[in-house]
Amino acid sequence: MKICMIGTGYVGLVSGTCFADLGNKVFCVDKDKIKINKLKNIISPIYEPGLDDLIRNNVRAKRLNFTNDLEKAVKESQIIFICVGTPTKKGSNMVDLSQVFNVAKSISKYIKNYKIIVNKSTVPVSTGDQIEKIILKKVKRSLFDVISNPEFLREGDAIRDFKYPDRIVIGSDNKKVFKKMQLLYEPLIKKGAKFFSTSRKGAELVKYASNAFLATKITFINEIANLCENTGINVEDISVGMGSDARIGGRFLRAGPAYGGSCFPKDTKGLISIADKFKTNLSIVKSVIKSNQNRKVLLTKRIAKIMNNKIKNKKITILGVTFKANTDDMRESSSLVLIPYLLKRGGVVKYHDPSGFKKEFKKNKNLKFERILSKACLGADLIIINTEWDEFKSIDFKKVVKKENFKIYDMRNLYNPEEMRKKKIKYFSIGR
Ligand code: UDX
Repeated sequence: MKICMIGTGYVGLVSGTCFADLGNKVFCVDKDKIKINKLKNIISPIYEPGLDDLIRNNVRAKRLNFTNDLEKAVKESQIIFICVGTPTKKGSNMVDLSQVFNVAKSISKYIKNYKIIVNKSTVPVSTGDQIEKIILKKVKRSLFDVISNPEFLREGDAIRDFKYPDRIVIGSDNKKVFKKMQLLYEPLIKKGAKFFSTSRKGAELVKYASNAFLATKITFINEIANLCENTGINVEDISVGMGSDARIGGRFLRAGPAYGGSCFPKDTKGLISIADKFKTNLSIVKSVIKSNQNRKVLLTKRIAKIMNNKIKNKKITILGVTFKANTDDMRESSSLVLIPYLLKRGGVVKYHDPSGFKKEFKKNKNLKFERILSKACLGADLIIINTEWDEFKSIDFKKVVKKENFKIYDMRNLYNPEEMRKKKIKYFSIGR
């Protein structure tokens, strides 16, 4: 099939490249000329394992095209995906839909024969109706359908998540469209993905409800971890004990720092704002947002306790500053609260991250980026493991720190407390 992805962020670029890999002819469109030029030269604007190779192969096979020419891409495609950003409006929970509506307006100028317009951007319930209204100003009703097809891609695992999804959700009020979408996704359905069709509004809500539920699951286990710390119980036993119940499921029950990233914080707020609009009180989601915000502060207090309240002039090394491993994304990362706190208390802080230097910390004095892991750890009084990159999982701490009496705060529970005790390393972790 010939398809067009508008927006080359995480969602559009990964989905477009993967659709090309399934044999479709794909146009990835973006108004950012620099980005498109880079992509034409196989330089990906995002860090996503495996993506560069996949882009290269599909560009060479002439299935994947990058362009600024929206008109040509729309005219040549049967299916048009909207994959632009839907950030939170500053100072509120509301979703900024201006990019989605601008795209709807732009494509409406070029629709001359039947097109399926698929909204993949995460949008509040009934946004599909608004997109339809905008397009109807220029295009006859019979020439298009607006449907919803939310994405469930995790950064760092996005290609795998695209190729082996648990489910493909299509929301449309015109049943004829389901067949065409089923055909597009056939290679994935054959591998076992569930094809689930619902109303357009239903699909819009599935996305928000899924992310809010996962955020709730993480927040729940994080609060249970607090209880475990006060009762001498190992939270991992609770995760396994609970998660073995098929009704609960073991995934997303890893206690750790506050959840971050571009989706959970934004989508929980977005869901609250939709519920407000429809006069519904989602008290659980509200509590989750609050608990997660509190967690950032709670863990800084825990660090102060580990350091016996002596942070001034202490050498502190942070391993991993992004919101999780295998991404370079800093959005809503708990390190954005943690590092300023340590600096304010007079700590001498270094950070190491496999995804490199972070512009977010450019202005911070007393903070140094260290490219080499062993150098970052040398002479540290405290090492904080903030993300779960593989290279952080088997560090010989005594060998790299080269000093007595250092402490480790492992916020991802990567090490075994018993083994650390045997090695006589002062080791602290989450919920155990
Ligand atoms: C998420 C959703 O998983 C994905 O389906 C959606 O489409 C986009 O948002 P992503 O933001 O890439 O994906 O990250 P994810 O792997 O879900 O992790 C989100 C946050 O939760 C991270 O801060 C992560 O460290 C944290 N997390 C996740 C935990 O603390 N414990 C867990 O068990 C799982």
